[in-house]
Amino acid sequence: MLNIFQQAEHAMLPKMTAAERSRQEFAKSFKQHIQANFLPAVTSAYFKRAVPAYAEEKGEAPTDYREARTAFQDDPLFQFYLSSQRVSQELMWFGVNESITRQLDELKQQAEQLPATGGTLEIDDDFTVPKYVSSLDIHCMPGGYVGKDGSDPLHAGALYDRGVYLYAMGYMGPNNDDMGRSVCNYITRNLLDFKPMKILDIGCTVGHSTLPYAELFPNAEVTAIDVAGSCVTYAHYRAEAMGLPVHFKQRNAEATGFEDESFDLVVSHILLHETSKKAMPKIFNECHRILKPGGYMIHADLPPFENMDAYTQLILDNETWYNNEPFWSAMREMDQIELAKKAGFAEEDIFFDTAGMAIMEQARQAELDVADAVEELGEREFTAGEYAPGGGWEVLVGKK
Ligand SMILES: C[S@@+](CC[C@H](N)C(=O)[O-])C[C@H]1O[C@@H](n2cnc3c(N)ncnc32)[C@H](O)[C@@H]1O
Repeated sequence: MLNIFQQAEHAMLPKMTAAERSRQEFAKSFKQHIQANFLPAVTSAYFKRAVPAYAEEKGEAPTDYREARTAFQDDPLFQFYLSSQRVSQELMWFGVNESITRQLDELKQQAEQLPATGGTLEIDDDFTVPKYVSSLDIHCMPGGYVGKDGSDPLHAGALYDRGVYLYAMGYMGPNNDDMGRSVCNYITRNLLDFKPMKILDIGCTVGHSTLPYAELFPNAEVTAIDVAGSCVTYAHYRAEAMGLPVHFKQRNAEATGFEDESFDLVVSHILLHETSKKAMPKIFNECHRILKPGGYMIHADLPPFENMDAYTQLILDNETWYNNEPFWSAMREMDQIELAKKAGFAEEDIFFDTAGMAIMEQARQAELDVADAVEELGEREFTAGEYAPGGGWEVLVGKK
């Protein structure tokens, strides 16, 4: 089905042997199978078994994810689902890791031969990566964003590049860039007089969401930062391989080092939930400081929990418990409008909105039999991790 969205090849993407491809496809198909076949049964068990039992004991059905977990955590089907999810995640990284390790030397040689695009790479050898990034293997990715000690910088980036495609089960499009592309479309369709000339993407990882800005705003100067030097290194070479000029820098979004009023647009895509309670206000303050008057800050992530029922919250909260995402749920309970106000944005200039998924348009335009895939994309609910939303991405927009 969604295999119509095979990952697009580029010079920095490791090639797979037939055996590696088959193991990776298995991990992806297993994820799809869990979503399509296990989850409906789990949902049914929650509403038919767990909710009535909880309501009988407590006098009412669970009202949030904490109560939902209390109600459901001992259910064997739920536990089976959770174990399956975890196994599929570990299988996925394992499958990708082997193909990268096998051809790392070739990737390094490849990086040196790429034609220059005008983009740059800045790595800070004295940089301190915040503990919320360095201290764990986020979403079970071996070595996390910074990579394992002593590993080649290209390794972590390549791992993420292929891993995201499998994790998202193709839902992020051939270049894993649906979030960036969707936010770009949102800007051009909704902020009609806004023509950003200096754009900053914070928490860019390997530049999946960054490159659409370089492509769709060709007159703008695009800069992208991340605390993980390994990721920006890979991002730089990936952008060169794809022929798009971007300035990648190893910097912290909490204190970027850019001058006041440097950018027309500051964006992030699924960054905030991977930071911390202390970092979030600093990031909002920094966005306000480096924006020019009239500029926009746009953060794309999943919606706050208050917009979801207790069961949907619970399924998402599993990322916190079983996929090494410690801030996943806590972030969704923070008052982002309040944080933006405290950072200096006027209340009337801050709002949540939805950026429609660009991939749905891409699918319709593709000359393949995509009707089923499009229909399925449209029907998706918030059933899995960060890459399986329904018809759009939640964006927090603030105008300075
Ligand atoms: C889920 S990934 C973001 C994905 C990326 N924006 C995309 O759309 O493909 C989160 C990234 O944020 C980075 N990060 C976390 N805290 C950061 C901070 N304070 N400043 C800059 N980058 C940060 C991590 O290193 C990681 O690469």
